[in-house]
Amino acid sequence: MATEHEQETGGSSAGESDGTGPGTDVSNLPLPPYPPNLGPSQLHFVRQMWDTLDFIERAFAERDVVRTRVPSQGDVIGLSHPDHMKRVLLTDRDQFRKSEDFRIAFGEGLLTVEGEEWQQQRDVLQPLFTRQSVMGYADGMVEQVRRRTRRWTDGDRLVLQQAFTDMTLDVIFATVLGRELAVDGDERIRDAAEHLHDWFVPTSYALPEWLLTPARYRFKKAKETLEAEASRLLDEKRGEAITDPSEADDLLSLLVGLREAGVTDSAMLSDERLRDQMVTIIFAGHDTTTTTLTFAFWALANNPEVYERFHDEVDDLDGPPTMDDLDDLDVTERIITETLRLFPPVYMLPREADTDVAVDGYRIPEGNVVHVPIREIHRDERFFDDPETFRPARWEDDLRQELPDFAYAPFGGGPRICIGRQFALLEAKLTMATIGRNYKLYWLGENDGAEPPTSPQMTLRMESGQEFLVTER
Ligand code: HEM
Repeated sequence: MATEHEQETGGSSAGESDGTGPGTDVSNLPLPPYPPNLGPSQLHFVRQMWDTLDFIERAFAERDVVRTRVPSQGDVIGLSHPDHMKRVLLTDRDQFRKSEDFRIAFGEGLLTVEGEEWQQQRDVLQPLFTRQSVMGYADGMVEQVRRRTRRWTDGDRLVLQQAFTDMTLDVIFATVLGRELAVDGDERIRDAAEHLHDWFVPTSYALPEWLLTPARYRFKKAKETLEAEASRLLDEKRGEAITDPSEADDLLSLLVGLREAGVTDSAMLSDERLRDQMVTIIFAGHDTTTTTLTFAFWALANNPEVYERFHDEVDDLDGPPTMDDLDDLDVTERIITETLRLFPPVYMLPREADTDVAVDGYRIPEGNVVHVPIREIHRDERFFDDPETFRPARWEDDLRQELPDFAYAPFGGGPRICIGRQFALLEAKLTMATIGRNYKLYWLGENDGAEPPTSPQMTLRMESGQEFLVTER
């Protein structure tokens, strides 16, 4: 497998245009589920929405190129081989653009912009997200987590997805915006962050973008609330020049400070861009980590031996985890790696073909939506033994080096690989260790060793209302 650096910047020529010429039009592919395909084809979209993960699993079980249909989008082409992902994200990335709906939703933030504009934004932000840079947030992250876990007592029943949503929002607000959210308040902000996902509710896929559905209205209001908050914080920080990054406690102060000091091109850091950037980071940077933590504790609760090894490891720390402990948390790290394999929060990457593209003998016409199903790639038995089983120990040896490029890519890849991955991994590790030292969480759902109850929305989430029991250790 390519190292993360190679996966980011290129280095191998494999996976470039497959040289199959124009090929068969992809619209000739039958729609899944493959035989028996009972009922009229109009039911196809309903089936997709009814049990999305099951539909995706069946669709890709026999093929790497899959056609589905979505009202208002037409043919959507799924490409589920690591070589496909490599083409889409790295070698042929110019042929696949980001889908328009993200830009409509998030304006000019890093997640959505393209071309020169994207490169300039990435150049400004990248140094602030290196492993070294995000280490500075370690103590603040632990403090935010402890503010909440201190209140947990033996016998509490927690809806863990919600508990982690609160916690990861606390962390992103404190570290990125420099604003400490109240533990028992700031509901307006918390609701707004939650509703940022409403732009992408599955029912809206079927409707034209100009139609203001109730979900889209909630999204619009949520975005306005967060933009107003970002503007208020911007005003507070105005005028404080910073040249040495270690002088800033949070990312927004640093960006404003660099602008005031004239270190960075101020056009890149205009108020409007900074506001879009902050809303983008709130959106991209908390729900994904929430999902990772929730599924990690679900997997631990269902794998007692791994749970025990995890507790042994965190019990060896001298106190609450600090950045000096990170290298001693190998078991915790492998649990996170394996959780991101089985339950990648971004389970499907969307793009649009920017030109006619040939893939495995099929011609995908310009404008078709293309999906790369990361979850299916991570569960492909061609690359992983016993792929459905949670087994962190599989990462103990050389698996990472042996895997083909892009067979494991929870953070995407190529130049647009997740900029927040070091931040997310640091946060996940510190949060797990902080909790594990004092508590054991038991899942209160059916424990039949099967899959967790999952609700695939914009990100993968645990179904709402799933409770865990808190026991003190
Ligand atoms: C476990 C947690 C996370 C996962 C699984 C994850 C996953 C991803 C993936 C798959 C992409 C690529 C999207 C694409 O190519 O279309 C991405 C991009 C991005 N992520 Fe994350 N992410 C996580 C955490 C974070 C955090 C904590 C932040 C910010 C603090 C963040 C900010 C971003 C941004 C800004 C982009 C766009 C980068 C660009 O286009 O240059 N993410 N993320």
